[in-house]
Order: sequence, then structure tokens, then C-alpha cells
Amino acid sequence: RCLGINYRSQIRLKSDIGFVLDIDGVLLRGSEPIPQAKEALELLQVNKVPFILLTNGGGLTEKSRIEFISSRIGVPLSPLQIIQSHTPMKTYAVNKTYQRVMVVGGVGDRSRECAYGYGFKDVVMPIDYVRQNPSISPYHNFSKDSLEKDAKDVDVSSAIDAILVFHDSRDMSTDTQVILDFLNSENGVVGTKRNFKSSEPSVPIIFSNNDFVWPNKYNLPRFGQGALRIMIEALYREVNQLKPSENLKSTIMGKPFPVQYNFAHHVLIDWREKLLKNQVNSLEQILPPLDSEPKNSPFSKIYMVGDNPASDIKGANDYGWESLLLRTGVYNDREGTDILPTGGIHDNILAAVKSVLR
Ligand code: G3P
Ligand code: MG
Repeated sequence: RCLGINYRSQIRLKSDIGFVLDIDGVLLRGSEPIPQAKEALELLQVNKVPFILLTNGGGLTEKSRIEFISSRIGVPLSPLQIIQSHTPMKTYAVNKTYQRVMVVGGVGDRSRECAYGYGFKDVVMPIDYVRQNPSISPYHNFSKDSLEKDAKDVDVSSAIDAILVFHDSRDMSTDTQVILDFLNSENGVVGTKRNFKSSEPSVPIIFSNNDFVWPNKYNLPRFGQGALRIMIEALYREVNQLKPSENLKSTIMGKPFPVQYNFAHHVLIDWREKLLKNQVNSLEQILPPLDSEPKNSPFSKIYMVGDNPASDIKGANDYGWESLLLRTGVYNDREGTDILPTGGIHDNILAAVKSVLR
């Protein structure tokens, strides 16, 4: 489904501008397509404007995600055109920074499949520890079926090297408990507790995004991974009796942080190359170095289209891209925003794209 992208050959590639599009609240709302998304993407494709999708969502492979979006919107897209919040974490696997990781968030064990795809040697999830000993989370909500299907047998004596939060929790209580256990463990071994207090956790924790809220079909935005981080930090602070000036040491990826925009910038340059060489059906993916700015960008302008001022717009403004804010997601005119887009506020993605191409 992702193959067969048809860019009209007689039209010259508009190679000096590029688009980076957010997904939730721009192309989809929950799993429903935003009505103008199809026409907007087709307009970019027909005009040969390079574009990629940059989302703070995740919890499944990039291929599965792009196939889903492609089928919902009805426009062919390549797996090389998407960056999820955790995509840069692949670098940790390839560079062997961490080998045995606990991945948190997402439905069933789809995040595990994704992490193995990145190349991590061993991937465990909180559900594995619940299956091994349900009293680790006495009020967990996993069904018998899910414990059989989604959990795997874990070697409880093996330490984990890091906690990677891939996506929103499906069982926040279990995830919170198990994460806190590991942060305060003896060197990452489950069921142990270190005998000192510190702002430095026993194993590193990396959050893949910091979105406090995200939009779905409900009329008010819902809590996201940023809310989980606040809970984890508050509990860690309590357990470790941190001073007001101290905080849990952690890493946060995703928009609005430059690490994600640098990664996206490399991927957009690569996609432009693929368009220039007529290789849009290639599945050969580059792996950009973490947090390094491309040296020679061929783009004179890059436009970020998003619905979340605190993530999409702030990130783009800080990074020096043009930013276009939409009314189809988190942002609404009633509440307004202090984070102003450089390219204006638009009713939907089609209006935003047209305002640039005009
Ligand atoms: O969970 C996803 C949500 O936090 C935001 O996704 O596509 O708007 O960056 P997106
Ligand atoms: Mg969004």
C-alpha cells in the first residue's frame, strides 16, 4: 500500500522547500481522518514538494503506522516519510548504548515488536513482570488472555539497562509502579531496592515525548505521556526526598526538542534525495546521528504544520522553521496561545498548505 507513489514526472521538484506535518490533530483525529487531509497531501505530491510526517505518537512500527495512515486517508505514503516519537531511539540499539531495555506504553506488545525491529537485544515490558508475579501490581487490569498473549517469560535475575517510554500507558498504575521500582532498584534488577537516595536513577529513563495533552474524538484534549512523566517525577521526588531544586534526571525526546527536529531535518533531506532520484519506492532508510544538525541543508524554507502550540509550533520556531498552526486539534481560538506561529493560524491542513503554495 505504501508503494506506487505517483509523483507526476513532468513537474519539477520544488526542491528548496519542504513540509513537516504533524499527525494527530492535523491528518487524523483519533483514528478518523481529517476531511481535508487527503487533498492537502495530494496537492503536495502533485506539486512535488518533499514532505514527511513528524509525530509524538508511537507504540508500533513505522511501517504499520504509515500503512494505517495511508489507508485511512487514501493517499500512498512511504515508511521513509514518518518519524515517530521513539524513532530516534533506534540509535541506542544500533550503537549498542543499551542492550536489554524495558519498553513502556502502547497496545499489547506492539511496542516490543518495534523495539526488536530497532535492534535491541532483549526487550521486556511491565506486563512480563505482572505475568511472572501478579502481586507486583495488585490491581492490574490485564486480562488472562492478554497475559498469555502479550507477555513473555522474563529472566528476573537479569538487569535492565534502560527504561524507554515509547507511548501512552494503557495501564498507568502498573507502568508507574514498575517504573518506580526500577528507578530505585539495585542496578536495574527487579524486586530489589537500593539503600541510598539520589536524583540519579538506578537505570536511565528516556521519555519519547512530553505532550501533556493530545486530541481525540472527545471534546477536550486528553492526558498524554507528559502527564505520566509528571507523575513519575512526583513519586520519585517523594521516595528520594529530593530538595525543591532537584529533579529526577531523565531524557525527553520528541517535539518540541531540537533532537527531534535535527533527526527530522536529516530524514527530510533524505526523502528529497529519493524524490530527485525517482526512488520513492525505496525502503532503504538512513539512520541520522543523534542530535546533530545537518551541515548543508538544501532547503531554503521548511514548513511545520501542527495543532499543538507547545510541541509543534514551539519546536519549529526554536529550530528556525516556519510554523503553521491549525484549528483541527489541541489549539482553539477561545483559549488562544502565547506561542505564535510564524505562518499564521489556519482552519485545516489544506488551507495551510495552500497558503504556502500560493
Ligand atoms: O500520543 C500522540 C500525541 O501525543 C500527539 O501526536 O501526532 O500530534 O504529535 P502528534
Ligand atoms: Mg498533533
